[in-house]
Amino acid sequence: MVNVAIMGHGVVGSGVAEILIHHKERIDNSVKDDVNVKYILDLRDFENLSYSDKFVKDFNIILNDGDVQIVAEAMGGINPAYDFVKKCLQAGKSVVTSNKELVAAKGAELIRIAKEKNVNFLFEASVGGGIPVLRPICQCLAANEITEISGILNGTTNFILNKMIVDNMDFDSALRLAQELGYAEKDPTADIEGHDACRKICILATLAFGKHVYPESVYTEGITAITLGDVEAADTLGYVIKLIAHTEKLNNGKIKASVRPTLVSRGSIISGVDGVFNAVLVNGDQTGEVMFYGKGAGKEATASAVVADIMDCAKHLKARKYLFWEEAEENYVDSSDNEFGKFYVSLKSNDYGKMKNSFSEILMDNEMSFVENKYQNTISLITQPISKKDLLNKLENFEDCEIKVLHTMC
Ligand code: HSE
Repeated sequence: MVNVAIMGHGVVGSGVAEILIHHKERIDNSVKDDVNVKYILDLRDFENLSYSDKFVKDFNIILNDGDVQIVAEAMGGINPAYDFVKKCLQAGKSVVTSNKELVAAKGAELIRIAKEKNVNFLFEASVGGGIPVLRPICQCLAANEITEISGILNGTTNFILNKMIVDNMDFDSALRLAQELGYAEKDPTADIEGHDACRKICILATLAFGKHVYPESVYTEGITAITLGDVEAADTLGYVIKLIAHTEKLNNGKIKASVRPTLVSRGSIISGVDGVFNAVLVNGDQTGEVMFYGKGAGKEATASAVVADIMDCAKHLKARKYLFWEEAEENYVDSSDNEFGKFYVSLKSNDYGKMKNSFSEILMDNEMSFVENKYQNTISLITQPISKKDLLNKLENFEDCEIKVLHTMC
């Protein structure tokens, strides 16, 4: 028998319990063992479930029970998840988690403890919900040097942007709808400010490039400043706005990593990823581009990835899996100021004529694509390739002409 404890009975934890208990026969047949849910840790009472007898409120019951070999952490956040997970690993229990915040912040330390104790620490559900992406990167693409990963890693913001683009809904209304439909949390900060996508690209970059990438080192910008005017201007210019997470290996041993609203060409594959769906594009030197697509959030999708990790641990109780990486040196992630490319800029002025005369002069490019909105006194444009530093210097000149820079995007 393999005994499992689940910590947390929220959206993901309850999904894990339901799959393990209601589909026990299928899971046991696959693992070729009796996978038994022994405990579920939660401070709340759940009296009317078919498995109510499994609930405990004291973490030490799980920690001190030598028969529990695998622990699924589904509490979310850093505290007390970090302390509990660390203690379980130190006690020689394998741990699986969907907690991207924990893995992004503490993964290097936790994987080191797992290695020392010869147990597994798996977290497939932490990126892309139900989309298998971490295992494929580490195992199926193992013969490749991964050069770049980019994608849509947050379903809530993709849903909101999609509503703005397709239904002309403003940001606040689209966010409210996302909350009503259960996609966005009551406190949506982590999603709309880009922190959730940042944690996920950190995990992907860490696994792909072998050194831990911390969220603090990644340039992160959310979607709260995007207006319907931006969405319309992007559309006229042939683009859609998506929150894109990106990481790339540089020749100097460093990497680039960012999360930001980005203009994506309307014909590109990623522009068609709508609603709460996620897509991850991985570039390998042998395979070229590989794309993973599916539901990036939701109870069943996420729980299915957690249960798959539990099954993997149960099949490999005495063997460590492939995962390991190192701490990175200082400044491993290159500064976002060193960027070069085309930028979207939107400008506003009360003196529309003056703005029209001065904008091409300041940006010094006659071939620039631009959209005018005389009613809102705005001009939105796409620059020719330029370094971010040079662009920001040029944009300072607009202040002297009383032209406000509303937004810049890649
Ligand atoms: N809130 C996330 C999203 C799902 O909207 O994609 C959990 O990471």
